[in-house]
Amino acid sequence: MSANVYPVSNDIAKGALIDKAKYDAMYKQSVEDPEGFWGEHGKRIDWIKPFTKVKNVSFDAKDLYIKWYEDGTLNVAANCLDRHLAKRGDQTAIIFEGDDPSVSEHITYKDLHERVCRFANALKSMGVGKGDRVVIYLPMIPAAAVSMLACARIGAIHSIVFGGFSPEALAGRVEDCGAKVVITSDEGLRGGRGVPLKRNADEALSHPGVKSVEKLVVVKHTGKDIAWNDARDVWYHEVCEAASPDCPPTEVNAEDPLFVLYTSGSTGKPKGVLHTSGGYLVYASMTHQYVFDYHEGDIYWCTADVGWVTGHSYIVYGPLANGATTLMFEGVPSYPDASRFWQVCEKHKVNIFYTAPTAIRALMREGESFVNKADLSSLRILGSVGEPINPEAWEWYHEHVGKRNCPIVDTWWQTETGGILITPLPGATDLKPGSATLPFFGVEPALLDNEGKELTGATDGNLVIKDSWPGQMRTVYGDHERFIQTYFSTFANVYTTGDGARRDEDGYYWITGRVDDVINVSGHRMGTAEVESALVAHSKVAEAAVVGVPHDIKGQGIYAYVTLNAGEEPTDELRAELVKWVRKEIGPIASPDYIQWSPGLPKTRSGKIMRRILRKIAANEYDQLGDTSTLADPGVVDDLIENRQNRK
Ligand code: WTA
Repeated sequence: MSANVYPVSNDIAKGALIDKAKYDAMYKQSVEDPEGFWGEHGKRIDWIKPFTKVKNVSFDAKDLYIKWYEDGTLNVAANCLDRHLAKRGDQTAIIFEGDDPSVSEHITYKDLHERVCRFANALKSMGVGKGDRVVIYLPMIPAAAVSMLACARIGAIHSIVFGGFSPEALAGRVEDCGAKVVITSDEGLRGGRGVPLKRNADEALSHPGVKSVEKLVVVKHTGKDIAWNDARDVWYHEVCEAASPDCPPTEVNAEDPLFVLYTSGSTGKPKGVLHTSGGYLVYASMTHQYVFDYHEGDIYWCTADVGWVTGHSYIVYGPLANGATTLMFEGVPSYPDASRFWQVCEKHKVNIFYTAPTAIRALMREGESFVNKADLSSLRILGSVGEPINPEAWEWYHEHVGKRNCPIVDTWWQTETGGILITPLPGATDLKPGSATLPFFGVEPALLDNEGKELTGATDGNLVIKDSWPGQMRTVYGDHERFIQTYFSTFANVYTTGDGARRDEDGYYWITGRVDDVINVSGHRMGTAEVESALVAHSKVAEAAVVGVPHDIKGQGIYAYVTLNAGEEPTDELRAELVKWVRKEIGPIASPDYIQWSPGLPKTRSGKIMRRILRKIAANEYDQLGDTSTLADPGVVDDLIENRQNRK
């Protein structure tokens, strides 16, 4: 833990939406009278039929329900577009900054509205209606936001699959949600290199399990030659041109689904996290406004990809619901060089900048000269998300990017939570580097011991949330039982986050990382079970165990212990082949950093793999293995230590 404290600066506090006194008063009201609080703040969005009920929630695993604003109706796209037209039709809604630094585009609210209406009509003409699923597999280009909002406009449920995922991973998600339409582009572009999205989509759709897809919509992006299936494929620009720009928004219930987003858990396949419309939009827009102290006219940039939840809530829905100008960046922080982020901040006069610790660490390694090249005087607020930020990276971000003038909001949340739950507010919260600090309005965190007893005071424990907030996920798509099992069964009557945390004497929360078998690689969530099942799917692999290993830039890297089938040779070629195999099965983000050949794995007599031991050996802490007496064959440990891959 870092000892430094950075008090709220007077300059920031003066103009801020929320100061200390206001935070205290609003927080108190939010937890003492959630009905009153969320009833009032529910009005921040436009309802077609106003709600009369606010909250209807039970966290009891035997009788679980989560409903917010349940008798209200609305349209999410109309909230993000139509309601801004009179006042800010000519204001920029989206600034697109291409991978190529010479490419950028400003899209006004009026223009975005028209694009969304046209594409919504095009989707309708393909037979897509309320409740139908549409998979979006696109790069970070405006068509991604247009596609999301077009679905929302007609009540269809979108499911975005990150463009870095492989055809296999895409196929699994398309199959699970039964998508009628898939939207992709000829290619993506990252750091000057093409990513063959259309080819990947073709491969995914040819999977025997994928039977639901009727149309593949293709955005022409790089102009690359691609294969074409006349019966199935349509060009995005052609269907948009042919469609009418007049598309009345479909009225949906507050609890109708808005999107499904697949995320990794500690067991099994990725699960489809389902978010609904009303509560999600209230929560995404409210957190966007207060956490980033968003003021009218601010230029706001979140560097995430729309393939992750951060892109959903804090590139598209939150900012657009607030009538903000949101920047979409197609590229990578290192292209053309390590000053790209800062060049983009200068070029577009960015006021609020939100990124991930892994990017900060990577850029920090390049030295200050890249930051100092750019004029960063427009910056006012900095943000961090995705993993714990180490105090060293925090201090660097604060000093060299923020020039000691910009508060850093370290925002803790999850795909499941829909929006930020624990975070500083710029005008209200004294900062401690490495701490996500205090709960947002309406959020009641608690720390439990392993038996489920609530701990008080300064302590470590399992982080749970005691009551619902409007942005909470409602179910796992197609598997409500799994939802209950995963989040409401470990401890009674609370939402279990899967994270551990420490609370200090000031009540500040310090997230210590996952307590389950989920790892966090460059801010991307990955189930060790997923990587293991990809490895054992290879014909030469008998068994695999995967653990996270500390990594300077990525936060955590992937360390795989692999047992080969009898007669297979453990060669360097095979090692490279397995890395390639995992990239094919899941995607490049799942590439193992280390593969260790393990003739045997440390198992208990009942056959359970002792991952604690594997984590220690991977971390090169083989002298701290603890009790190994319960192992069926303690001898395997010596072999693993001797052949460990991560030697310092
Ligand atoms: C981790 C991303 C520490 C945490 C929004 C969580 C963090 C998981 C932070 C969710 C933070 C996210 N400090 N850890 N500020 N933000 N995490 O679903 O372990 O991709 O459970 O959502 O990332 O990852 P997800």
